[in-house]
Amino acid sequence: MDLGIRGRKAIVCASSQGLGKGCARALAEAGVSVVINGRNRPLLDETAAELRQATGVEVIAVVADLSTHEGQKALLAACPEPDILVNNNGGPPFRDFRELDRQALLAGVTMNMVTPIELIQKVIEPMKTRQFGRIVNITSVSVKMPLAGLDLSSGARAGLTAFLAGVARSVACKNVTINNLLPGSFDTARLRGGFAMAAKRTGMAESAIEQRSREAIPAKRFGNPAEFGHACAFLCSVHAGYITGQNILLDGGSYPAAF
Ligand SMILES: NC(=O)c1ccc[n+]([C@@H]2O[C@H](COP(=O)([O-])OP(=O)(O)OC[C@H]3O[C@@H](n4cnc5c(N)ncnc54)[C@H](OP(=O)(O)O)[C@@H]3O)[C@@H](O)[C@H]2O)c1
Repeated sequence: MDLGIRGRKAIVCASSQGLGKGCARALAEAGVSVVINGRNRPLLDETAAELRQATGVEVIAVVADLSTHEGQKALLAACPEPDILVNNNGGPPFRDFRELDRQALLAGVTMNMVTPIELIQKVIEPMKTRQFGRIVNITSVSVKMPLAGLDLSSGARAGLTAFLAGVARSVACKNVTINNLLPGSFDTARLRGGFAMAAKRTGMAESAIEQRSREAIPAKRFGNPAEFGHACAFLCSVHAGYITGQNILLDGGSYPAAF
């Protein structure tokens, strides 16, 4: 399917690997020039080279911590008026909620709620003027389903979701859409890091933890970043202009509810 977005410009936050990279790649394959981002320069440069070689589109690599104002400025300097914004960031570490002091709480909220809102504030007016804008926020299945040890992540992302529910309706008439993609378990460095930590905590073998997690998913497999990216690219396409304010689960059936 031609997504109808060839020649458009996107900022894809936190995209040197994992789900963000999957989104950047799928957009680049659709002919969108992309700004990609991460804090680790060698990894980011490697990803930029890979995307350029695979797709031939312009790929700009911005090394920056996107949770800081300087990082956001650097991203927007590389692409002041994106047609597409994919909000993504690292997630807070697994932790018992009693261990989170105020600084840790505020850092988590800054990362997963305040930062995406700040970026949306900065890009949305030109999108409205051009009557085309696509904003996709990578949140988590934990917005709908509690996950032990990820309470801060769940709370901050649920806050983002509620905040944007009204904003999405206020810009829909300008062909600007805002949607959230809710990943379940995708095979990325973050997922593997979680297995390693669980192995340390419980004394179980990492492979056993991985197998147990996989078996718990109705699809009996982890998702892969490429399929996540294609779902994101569809939401950014011309065909998805009537989809807005939605929370779309990509979890192989893990969320156990009819609605
Ligand atoms: N994978 C899953 O199954 C899953 C499930 C639910 C939710 N999620 C959420 O989805 C998001 C992406 O997860 P993932 O699995 O793709 O993680 P990942 O493989 O660890 O990749 C994270 C990416 O974000 C970048 N990054 C992290 N902090 C950053 C910052 N402050 N500024 C700029 N870039 C930053 C990393 O690069 P640098 O480290 O070099 O900066 C890397 O490119 C996370 O918020 C995660 O909690 C993932």
